[in-house]
Amino acid sequence: MQPFSFYLITDTHFYKNSLGCYGKEYDEFMRYEQKCFAETESINNSVFEWLEKADEADTVLIAGDLSFNGERASHEGFVKLLEGLKNAGKRVFVVTADHDCSAHPFGFNENGRFEPEGIQRDELFDIYNEYGFGGAIAADREHLSYVAQLCDGVRLLALNNDGSRDGIRNFDEAQIAWIKQQTAKAKEDGQMMIAMNHFPLLPPQPLFNLIGSTMQKQSAKAIQLLADEGVGIVFTGHMHQQSINEYVTEKGNKIYDVCTGSIIADPAIIRHITIRDGDTVEIRSIPTPDFDWDTKGKDCKQYLKDTFDAMIVNLLEDMVNDTPRVLRKLGISTSKGAVFAVKQAGKLLNSVTLGTLARLLFIKCDKSIRKTTVKRFATDLVRGIFEGNQKMVIGTPEGDVFNAALKRLGFVLKKVNAKTFDGKKADIAELLKNTAGNYGIDDYNAVLKLK
Ligand SMILES: [Fe+2]
Ligand SMILES: [Fe+2]
Repeated sequence: MQPFSFYLITDTHFYKNSLGCYGKEYDEFMRYEQKCFAETESINNSVFEWLEKADEADTVLIAGDLSFNGERASHEGFVKLLEGLKNAGKRVFVVTADHDCSAHPFGFNENGRFEPEGIQRDELFDIYNEYGFGGAIAADREHLSYVAQLCDGVRLLALNNDGSRDGIRNFDEAQIAWIKQQTAKAKEDGQMMIAMNHFPLLPPQPLFNLIGSTMQKQSAKAIQLLADEGVGIVFTGHMHQQSINEYVTEKGNKIYDVCTGSIIADPAIIRHITIRDGDTVEIRSIPTPDFDWDTKGKDCKQYLKDTFDAMIVNLLEDMVNDTPRVLRKLGISTSKGAVFAVKQAGKLLNSVTLGTLARLLFIKCDKSIRKTTVKRFATDLVRGIFEGNQKMVIGTPEGDVFNAALKRLGFVLKKVNAKTFDGKKADIAELLKNTAGNYGIDDYNAVLKLK
């Protein structure tokens, strides 16, 4: 086959700014937000303008969470951007997801929080008809899924898993049967099949083995299904994270999950993907362009990075200043004991340096980072998990102190009885080591061998 290229973006979370997105309550809401809100229309405009002009591919895939929270006006505004891409000669394929038909969309104005008009899930098929569903070679309206011929030799299995009717984030039996039918048909027709599914099927970073609620339900079953049916790569979003992971099923079938960051949050990325032949896929990552906003002179990357860091710093500081709010945000009970424990932990995190902490744990800490506060270290650690290619690897001052701490706490970590996403016993220290530092596939630019 001829090499085939396309662009992929995800989690556009377009919000029609004229609905209202300001005020005191808005500022409060944004204290714990990783993603932009008021800026999203402007960010989308600049990304779509970039895509219209981009000449290394004429196909664009968008992996869901198209609107901020399902506001009718946001969907209408977003469709206009898709029309612009189409008029510029691009073919566009979208899937819809959990943020595209929320029961309670919201905005903010001078009177506080309000609920703009939303849409019904049933409307999505028609709203986005021209961007996947309409020209599909097979479509499943109930599950908002379809199969499209991307080029001669490559088919796209575009899957929605917001859980048609019952239980969200899952493939029900009918959808599994439909997937099997479509993959069998692709094999019969001699077509390679790639998939796009909003929710990740593999933990984007190892730590997410333990936080399964962020992924698709029964993701082990879903990833095995796709791999054993001959799908070698699935493009996902939802996590607002950059990661590429590999999985081999018991039957020996390999599959990659390529999770891409949201364009409206750090790390904001446009992927460029080339399918070289049936077994080689090249991935390249392009930072999103600057956008029209009062960013106080910062470029796009710095602005989004600072927004991310503010979320972590606010959470850490509010552990001391507004403990119940932090507990509510994390879904933890606000009992007296919990408030006391979190407040004390917050005091330590906010005041102590790495040098002091290392002394308390009897571990070595390189001189160059001894004065770094634990708050700064924690912020870099968490942002690194989202940005991918995490830098805290063994051999760096940060990686060495982190891994020394893991070793020191090893006896406690060994007592934690937890399972990985596919039901195996989790080695917590190993999961944490591989979450702070990336020792595996490059999360940004990679050449993946599917076989
Ligand atoms: Fe999202
Ligand atoms: Fe999502």
